[in-house]
Amino acid sequence: MASPIAIREGIHWVGALDPELRVFDIVMRTENGSSYNAYLVEGTSATALVDTVKHGFESQLLDRLAAIREPSGIDYLVVNHTEPDHSGAVGAFLEAAPDVTVIGTTRAIQFLEAQLNRAVRSRVVKAGDTLELGGRTLRFVPSPWLHWPDTMFSYLEEEQILFSGDVFGAHHADPALFDDAVANDFLDDFKYYYDVIMAPFAGHVQKGLSRIAELDIRIICPTHGPILRSSPERYIALYDEWSRARTRERPLAALCYASAHGFTAAIADAVAEGLRGGGVDVEMLDLVETGVDAAAAACLAADAVVIGSPTINGVPAPPALALLAHMDLFRSKGKPFGAFGSYGWSGEAVEMLMARAADLRMKPVGEGLRVAFAPSSEDLQLASDYGRAVAAATLGTA
Ligand code: FEO
Repeated sequence: MASPIAIREGIHWVGALDPELRVFDIVMRTENGSSYNAYLVEGTSATALVDTVKHGFESQLLDRLAAIREPSGIDYLVVNHTEPDHSGAVGAFLEAAPDVTVIGTTRAIQFLEAQLNRAVRSRVVKAGDTLELGGRTLRFVPSPWLHWPDTMFSYLEEEQILFSGDVFGAHHADPALFDDAVANDFLDDFKYYYDVIMAPFAGHVQKGLSRIAELDIRIICPTHGPILRSSPERYIALYDEWSRARTRERPLAALCYASAHGFTAAIADAVAEGLRGGGVDVEMLDLVETGVDAAAAACLAADAVVIGSPTINGVPAPPALALLAHMDLFRSKGKPFGAFGSYGWSGEAVEMLMARAADLRMKPVGEGLRVAFAPSSEDLQLASDYGRAVAAATLGTA
C-alpha cells in the first residue's frame, strides 16, 4: 500500500509516482518519468489537501491519505492549477470527501467545474487571502500564466513552505523525493521542464518571482519532481536567470536549413552573409546535424527566424516542417520570418513555410526565395539581398 512521506510533522507528500512515463503532454520527453505531487497539511482545527494527481493514479493518492486520515476528514482542497495531471483525481477525491470546500482562483474553479461537468462547493481566493487551519495558515498568491491562467502559489506561513504548482517542477520520478536525497542529478530535467513549460511565459515568470520575493521560503513543494529543500534560493535564482530578457548588442537571427545536395546550403550561406551585412548576428543550424529540438530552441530564443528547405515531392523537407511544428504562438508572434530553398521541378516548399509562419503570426519577409537547382552567382546575390531584407525587418528599418 502506498505510504505518505513526511515533510514536517503534520505535512505530508501524498502524491503519485509515474516512473514509466516517457512522453508528457504529447510533446515532452520524460526519460526519468514524472510524479504528480499532492500534499496534506494538517492544522489543529482543519486539514487541507493541496492539489491532487493525474487520472489513473487515484489509488496512490487515496491510499496515502487513508494512512493519515480518511478523506472524509479533510476540510479543504486547494487547487493551485487545474491541468488534468493535477485535477484528474479530483472527482474521485470528492466522492470520498463530499463535504470538502475547493479553494482556487476564479479561473481554477471555472476550469475544474468544466472538467467535472458539475458545480463544486468552492471559495474563490485572491492575492493575500488566507486559510486558517489552526496553528497553520495558508496564504494565497495568485500568479496567472504559470503556465495557465488559473495558476497560484500557496504559502504556508508558519513553516515557510511554498506550494508552487508547476513552477519549479521537473519530470523526474524518484521515491527518495527530496532534492538532496534523489539518486540522480535532476538539474537537466529541471531546465528542460523550464524550457518547455515555463519559457513561453518568461515575463509571467518574472512577475511570479516578484510576487514571492518577500516570502521567506525554506522548502518549495512543486507538483512535479523533487521537493526542493536543500537550497530553495538556488532554484529561484535559476528561474530568475532563465526568465530575464536577454539584451544583445545586435539582434540575432536563427537560420536553420536542410540541404540534400548542397544547393540549399549554398543559398543559406549567402542569406547569412546578407543578414550579417545588414546588422544582424546569425546562428546557423543544419537541421539534420543539429536536430529539431535544438533548432526550435534557437528559433524561439532568436529575434528573427529564417528556414531553408528544398522541395521534396511537393513539400518541405520533414525536419523543416517539424521545426515549425515545434514553434509556438506565444514566442513566435511578431518575429520576422524568411524562407528559401532550392527545388528541382515544382518548388512549393518556400510558399508552404511562409504560410505556416503566417499562421504563427510571424512577419513573413516578402515571398521568400526559390532557386531552381544550383544557385547561380545572380541567385546568390538575390539570397544575400534577401538576408539584408530580413535584417531590415528585424531592425525595424524596412
Ligand atoms: Fe503539471 Fe500544467 O500541469
